Amino acid sequence: MDSSHLSQKGIRELIGRAIEARRKSYSPYSHYQVGAALLAADGQIITGCNIENAAYGPSNCAERTAFFKAVSEGMREFTAIAIVGSPEGETLTQYAYPCGVCRQVMMEFCDAESFRIIVAKSEEDYCVMTLAELLPEGFGPENLGEV
Ligand code: THU
Repeated sequence: MDSSHLSQKGIRELIGRAIEARRKSYSPYSHYQVGAALLAADGQIITGCNIENAAYGPSNCAERTAFFKAVSEGMREFTAIAIVGSPEGETLTQYAYPCGVCRQVMMEFCDAESFRIIVAKSEEDYCVMTLAELLPEGFGPENLGEV
């Protein structure tokens, strides 16, 4: 996928990948299933799902699963992420905005003004926001003189 311009077709493809990823959700405790599809600057799409744990604390969100998979494979620049989350079942009943911890992880690797966060109920029903809108005045690498 061409990542320089996020077309409607590109957004729909990303949402489709997030919906597929959500089917892999391991969420026997909350029964809340989340899928994410992260678009890297080179056009690769990396997916993730939420992975829960009997001890609760070690649970991981879908967005962070996608980011950590991508970063551990050497990717460092990202354009957008599509997120789908709803209680167990095929129907997406709500827009699932990323939790605060995931927003902070995005802040580490993404340009807040241009990184797009897409929350969707279907490939046709979605909202697009920037990271800066969801995490205004965020703390990031620039605060430490990095980058
Ligand atoms: N969850 C995510 O995967 N992403 C978020 O941004 C919010 C919450 C997951 C964590 C947990 O497995 C379940 O949803 C209920 O909180």
